[in-house]
Amino acid sequence: MLDLTGKNAIVTGIANNRSIAWGIAQQLHQAGANIGVTYLPDDKGRFEKKVSELVEPLNPKIFVPCNVEDDAQVESAFQEVQKTWGKLDILIHCLAFAQKEDLSGDFSATSRAGFAQALSISTYSLTKLAAVAKPLMTEGGSIITLSYLGGVKVIPNYNVMGIAKAGLEMSVRYLAAELGPQNIRVNAISAGPIRTLASSAVGGILDMIHHVEEVAPLRRTVTQLEVGNTAAFLSSDLASGITGQVIYVDAGYEIMGM
Ligand SMILES: NC(=O)c1ccc[n+]([C@@H]2O[C@H](COP(=O)([O-])OP(=O)(O)OC[C@H]3O[C@@H](n4cnc5c(N)ncnc54)[C@H](O)[C@@H]3O)[C@@H](O)[C@H]2O)c1
Repeated sequence: MLDLTGKNAIVTGIANNRSIAWGIAQQLHQAGANIGVTYLPDDKGRFEKKVSELVEPLNPKIFVPCNVEDDAQVESAFQEVQKTWGKLDILIHCLAFAQKEDLSGDFSATSRAGFAQALSISTYSLTKLAAVAKPLMTEGGSIITLSYLGGVKVIPNYNVMGIAKAGLEMSVRYLAAELGPQNIRVNAISAGPIRTLASSAVGGILDMIHHVEEVAPLRRTVTQLEVGNTAAFLSSDLASGITGQVIYVDAGYEIMGM
């Protein structure tokens, strides 16, 4: 029943083979979805080359730059979706950013600029992407974003990103309420800690992972592909009654009080 054949899926946030977005793209592809990929452009074109080589086996029909700080670039990426596919079914929002100095030490030391940038890229971008995806989701759709427990409980060093994730989870609820009548579902996956480029910027990430391995009911952390499996489920008709939710894929860590 988990069949995404004929569904068109845009996946944002692939940086390398450790990216959670890469785990998601592979599982959506395996379930039969057509994959389109956006990447963060840089001056030397390094991401473009790396990501295009990585995703080649998925045969993406769409491969476009999309820096979410640039509204014009976001709009032009989705014009490409309109031209190529005409309609969109699945949108994966799997990106975040904060300055490294804002991911350790005192939260009260966060600069105004660092705070604004972290929330613009990590939180507001979901709303912007939902706005451009909405007119393309003519047959309903599924929008999925990635959150973390640090948006609900205090996690050492997560700091401004915790504020960003709290806002992100609330954005999921507001978007789900708005888009539900169009049969567009909006959900978040709250993943356990995984070693990636972004998580390596969080102070003490390895200690966090070891702690989860000791305490989580499953005595381990999770993999990118496990997150991808849940994303495939949430994208499918099997999840047709689920919207506005935050689903934990964290080996059960979230239930523990001690
Ligand atoms: N790794 C973890 O432990 C973990 C746990 C829970 C949630 N998450 C979330 O998963 C998502 C993916 O992160 P990841 O851990 O796979 O790391 P990652 O470094 O592989 O992915 C982060 C992505 O964000 C993109 N990005 C940054 N700034 C951008 C911008 N301005 N425009 C467009 N893209 C931009 C990067 O290019 C990169 O592809 C993030 O939202 C992160 O907060 C990660």
